[in-house]
Amino acid sequence: MLNFEFKNPTKIIFGKGEIEKISREIPTGAKVMMLYGGGSIKTNGVYDQVIHALKAFEVVEFAGIPANPEYEVLMQALKVIKEEKITYMLAVGGGSVIDGVKFLSAAAVYQGAHPWDILTKSIRTEVGLPFGSVLTLPATGSEMNSGAVITRAETQEKLAMGGPGLFPEFSILDPEVVKSIPKRQLVNGVTDAFTHVLEQYMTYPAGAHLQDRFSESILQTLIEVGPKVIENPADYEAAANFMWSCTMALNGLIQKGVPTDWAVHAMGHELTALFGIDHARTLAIIAPSHYRYNFEAKKEKLAQYGQRVWGIQEGTVEEIATIAIAKTEDFFHAMEIKTTLGEYTDDYEGTAEKISKRFTERGWLGLGEHKTLSPSDVEKIVAMSY
Ligand code: NZQ
Ligand code: ZN
Repeated sequence: MLNFEFKNPTKIIFGKGEIEKISREIPTGAKVMMLYGGGSIKTNGVYDQVIHALKAFEVVEFAGIPANPEYEVLMQALKVIKEEKITYMLAVGGGSVIDGVKFLSAAAVYQGAHPWDILTKSIRTEVGLPFGSVLTLPATGSEMNSGAVITRAETQEKLAMGGPGLFPEFSILDPEVVKSIPKRQLVNGVTDAFTHVLEQYMTYPAGAHLQDRFSESILQTLIEVGPKVIENPADYEAAANFMWSCTMALNGLIQKGVPTDWAVHAMGHELTALFGIDHARTLAIIAPSHYRYNFEAKKEKLAQYGQRVWGIQEGTVEEIATIAIAKTEDFFHAMEIKTTLGEYTDDYEGTAEKISKRFTERGWLGLGEHKTLSPSDVEKIVAMSY
């Protein structure tokens, strides 16, 4: 096992009807900005619950943070934060709203002239403007981690940022919100969380038995409850297990003491930036090719996953590893997720070269758990995904 430090300061308040507890978590006298997306919270009752819980506070609303939170929209929110002297933010939404609020938390204290530099220069935020969240869509884990991914349509970029100051102070996870989520987003949530685990597990054996079993148990739980929640989002037990699995998949716990990959996400983000494909679907496009391309380096963990998660007992390491990749693809297909780029766009020619060039320009010369995946490898993997 590798050395590690672990601190996760986010307080989780989990369960039915817990949204009303917001008022206990925000400091008395705070001037609160409540931020949300395109309006789903207005039709599923979440908006009313939050407004009711905030009645003791002065509240400024900011609506319209889009999926793949857009820099230009966030800059409008930043202006309001400064004009209104906001002291606390509350994100009410999925990963996009929470990530948008993390950017604002960083940008509100940033002294430089161009907040976009926070993303391009990887400026880490040690202490940001404080915020909490009410999660409405289990998927990203953003509710309990310190990372964010921000999009800039003008330049077709989608870049990550983070820092220890960007954990939500608290997050309310009420599984009842799941019942209003459309199928497309539920499927995305299962796929995103599943791939988060793979990014932190599908590397090489590191002698971290507990972390491996944490990861395998999250994958098994998603395989068990994913189809149930897609079939019936009002199934509270399935929704609760789905929600907690998504949070646990990316709150830092399973990555401690082990090597991590994250190349699938790096390539996937480019597909969202270039084609607007939903984040989770870009991962399903890239992951099978990534595991086939890096088969030799990853075959031991692929086989362990095949045995423990998919129950494949017969065969050599190579055979089990090969079946495990196919099982992963089948799992995505069973949720009606398409796994090749050509099924999302006819305009895919040249994508591999374009992504490889961008990685070279950014100096991303060695991705993956061994830091050896070059832009030319990336080009081959993306081309395999057409
Ligand atoms: O905008 P509204 O109207 O609220 O609708 C949203 C949105 O259109 C809708 N929705 C959310 N909760 C709902 C609901 N509809 C009905 N009922 C509800 N209860 O769902 C749509 C998608 O929402 P979004 O927040 O975009 O989805 P998700 O949570 O999948 O977030 C995706 C974003 O997170 C980033 C992705 O790149 C992408 O930008 N990621 C963030 C990560 C992190 N911070 O750790 C890690 C991930 O790997 C990922 O990159
Ligand atoms: Zn993801």
